[in-house]
Amino acid sequence: MKQSALSKLGHRSEAPPISWLMEVTLSRPQLISLAAGFTDNESLPVSDARDLLNDLLRTRKTGQAALQYGTTAGDPVLRELTAQDFRLLDGVLDNDKAYHADRMIITNGSQQMLYMVTEALCDEGDIVLVEDPTYFVYIGILQSHGLRGRGVKMQEDGLNLEHLEKTLESLKKSGEIKRVKMLYLVSYYQNPTGLTTSFEKKAAALKLLRKYEKAAGHPIYLLEDAAYRELRFKGGDVKSALAAKGFGNRVIYAGTYSKPFATGTRVGFGILPDPVYTAVVRIKGNHDFGTSNLLQQLLVKAISSGKYEEHLTTLQRRYAKKAKGMLAAMKQFFPSEVQWWEPQGGLYYYARLPKALKTGAKSKLFQKALARDVLYVPGELCYANDPTRRKPENEMRLSFGGGTEQNIHIGIERLGGVLREMLGK
Ligand SMILES: Cc1ncc(COP(=O)(O)O)c(C=O)c1O
Repeated sequence: MKQSALSKLGHRSEAPPISWLMEVTLSRPQLISLAAGFTDNESLPVSDARDLLNDLLRTRKTGQAALQYGTTAGDPVLRELTAQDFRLLDGVLDNDKAYHADRMIITNGSQQMLYMVTEALCDEGDIVLVEDPTYFVYIGILQSHGLRGRGVKMQEDGLNLEHLEKTLESLKKSGEIKRVKMLYLVSYYQNPTGLTTSFEKKAAALKLLRKYEKAAGHPIYLLEDAAYRELRFKGGDVKSALAAKGFGNRVIYAGTYSKPFATGTRVGFGILPDPVYTAVVRIKGNHDFGTSNLLQQLLVKAISSGKYEEHLTTLQRRYAKKAKGMLAAMKQFFPSEVQWWEPQGGLYYYARLPKALKTGAKSKLFQKALARDVLYVPGELCYANDPTRRKPENEMRLSFGGGTEQNIHIGIERLGGVLREMLGK
């Protein structure tokens, strides 16, 4: 038998770069990884989680409820608490229908939300507009489903609207607009660039998408991935796209508790308009018919006891410190030609090197860095396979999430050494 039994999806799915980066990290304990998107290990809320779980399992009644299956859409109390919090963040009234708990689903990390929404909306050959660069794990979802990513340029204040319009116009001209299903936007302290797209820009993007719906023959959604929204350490919060008046039926919002509380819990959530909501709940029914009830109950306890908010404040302070430390080290050790944007939250700096310096996994630079026990994410992994442009090869993502302040300093010093050497300095 020569033929493989794998499905098209089975065949297409490539090894996600994240797995490879994790393997390299784990196989070299001395390595300082500025690559993996791990969160701060020291501050993980171990004793809070222990107390809250103890409390949860103290009586038979609450214990049994937590250890039993739940519903597919998620625990009603957690959905309501999440909706309340979200309304507060966006400054809307309690009776605003767009933010109703009935439109909410609790998922296994926001990653599952992204996967299911893409499954619910896209068929092979369809197009998703993505930021250039974007979250590289999402590129894997596109690739394995045979979807096409079209890159929209980024600028200092987020998405480049002129380029979005140009892209939509050229897709209309080529007749491919019919295949465009959504714009995927990592709008807060973006992974990988750290950039934030303003509320005004999100509202303008929604208007543009609507303008092309007639030619598309169907709605074009904005999938707002707000994974880092709560990890803000500078500036004010930015309203979500859901707050754009008149567009509540075009915005799909993906949020998470894993970054602001504990990554290991992997509890995420989504707010979706119908008919996408119904389709996603049905897909989740087939995937796993519900997120871990125990972990959802843990979050209910954490939120209602105030522990969640307390922990978040600690986290924001820690990331602010680490970001400051990384910035100081880059200023001290990187050659002056290296450029970066300063994020107001999240976990990343994104560095652009002189054009001649390639950063890919096979590059001299990457190999030299590895030999000095420091790892980064090559920027080219964060660009969708869009045949209309070349992927930049001289960029790198640097995370201050997982490392200690000391390790971040040493890691940047080592990387700076390699960069200077490569530039003959
Ligand atoms: C932009 C972005 N979205 C979504 C996720 C998924 O996170 P989780 O599934 O833990 O909520 C991540 C994780 O790194 C991310 O960086």
